[in-house]
Amino acid sequence: MNNKICITCMAVFFSATLFAVSTSYAAKEYDVQAFGPKNPIIWDTPVRVVFNHRIHTEDSGIECSSCHGEPFAMQRGVAMRSGKLSMASLAAGEYCGVCHDGDTAFASDTNCAGCHVPPEDLIVWSKPVKAVIFHHQQHTDEYGLECDSCHNEAFKMKSGTAGKSPFFTMKSLYDGQYCGKCHDGETAFASSTLCNTCHIGKKGYDRMMRNDPHSQNPDKKARATNQRMISHILSPATI
Ligand code: HEC
Ligand code: HEC
Ligand code: HEC
Ligand code: HEC
Ligand code: HEC
Ligand code: HEC
Repeated sequence: MNNKICITCMAVFFSATLFAVSTSYAAKEYDVQAFGPKNPIIWDTPVRVVFNHRIHTEDSGIECSSCHGEPFAMQRGVAMRSGKLSMASLAAGEYCGVCHDGDTAFASDTNCAGCHVPPEDLIVWSKPVKAVIFHHQQHTDEYGLECDSCHNEAFKMKSGTAGKSPFFTMKSLYDGQYCGKCHDGETAFASSTLCNTCHIGKKGYDRMMRNDPHSQNPDKKARATNQRMISHILSPATI
């Protein structure tokens, strides 16, 4: 027993050493002094933003002093803690907006996907009918839609918002609002057709929730996706 533990210890020790060695090699390839931190700076409140030093320093040749100490401190979290980091302050020419003004660099009210990342989880509505699904990646990657084709007046970048409105109904869709902005029979299939493509129904919902005893899905990937969907459905934001 002791031997076994010892072997495990040594395996852990060796792999840790290997990891340390390999990361120090990786660090040598990327010059932190010259280009700033290697890992992206990520903000998640309220919407995920990814900032890469390398793109700005190594690729675009911007000096550290163009961003540090104004508009950013050389310490992660300071901008977020100021409580002022938002699209509004960017539009007013602060923070990223110092350059992302359509002049020095692309404007902050364009190329949303450059700075933001869409959620991987399916968005699911289960009231008043079970259940309507929406898949981001399909709409952005497969159909090539820009974030602001939906995240303008049609949808907020916050799950649960549309679901709270009494106007999030088939009638509104038929009137060209929400999903109906595109699902009008021209840009995409009409909301008055293919009901089951959006409405996976109670059966589909139950299968997703794994209440269905017949759904012993052997496909690992599908199961992982289901797991993600379930965690999303159960999160209060979506209900
Ligand atoms: C285009 C703007 C920009 C440029 C240029 C830039 N940085 Fe940064 N840097 C940032 C932002 C944004 C943060 C995060 C600040 C925050 O969270 O308040 C940051 C944070 C840092 C941090 C803190 C990281 C941490 O984990 O706490 C270091 C160190 C840093 N930068 C070094 C550099 C160096 C060195 C350079 C030049 C080679 C550089 N930066 C150039 C925008 C920039
Ligand atoms: C140059 C980078 C950048 C671009 C481009 C950008 N954003 Fe942002 N966005 C941010 C930053 C930084 C924040 C504030 C931090 C956070 O929410 O994590 C933010 C926050 C937000 C928020 C949260 C609420 C608010 O108003 O601050 C929404 C919603 C949002 N962005 C939508 C969009 C949309 C839609 C687009 C495209 C039209 C877009 N963003 C383009 C950087 C960007
Ligand atoms: C000192 C000026 C400056 C500041 C401040 C700045 N950027 Fe940039 N950024 C640039 C320039 C210049 C480029 C390259 C030209 C372009 O893409 O328009 C760029 C490019 C980018 C890109 C494009 C990456 C790609 O895929 O090509 C993203 C994303 C980005 N910036 C995000 C941010 C975010 C988020 C912030 C705030 C945390 C920020 N930038 C602050 C100047 C700046
Ligand atoms: C075809 C329409 C459409 C497109 C395109 C789209 N979204 Fe969304 N997005 C939605 C809908 C619908 C919601 C849910 C809104 C609600 O429940 O009120 C949402 C919600 C979100 C949320 C909130 C997630 C949460 O858990 O609170 C984020 C973040 C988001 N979208 C980011 C993006 C980004 C980034 C892009 C572009 C890469 C994008 N979206 C493109 C329709 C779209
Ligand atoms: C493009 C996607 C989409 C298509 C196609 C679609 N629906 Fe809907 N449906 C929704 C959304 C989104 C809601 C509002 C959210 C909810 O009720 O869960 C909704 C709500 C409903 C409701 C609840 C009551 C109401 O009127 O809002 C019923 C009933 C309904 N749909 C029936 C149908 C029928 C029948 C069809 C086919 C003729 C259909 N739907 C096609 C997306 C769609
Ligand atoms: C900005 C335009 C736009 C909006 C808004 C939009 N869609 Fe779509 N959607 C498309 C396009 C384009 C396609 C692909 C073409 C087609 O299938 O007709 C598509 C396809 C789909 C599909 C079929 C995916 C597949 O292949 O299985 C579903 C389901 C769907 N949308 C649901 C929704 C729901 C639900 C909403 C509202 C929450 C919505 N869409 C809002 C443009 C949009």
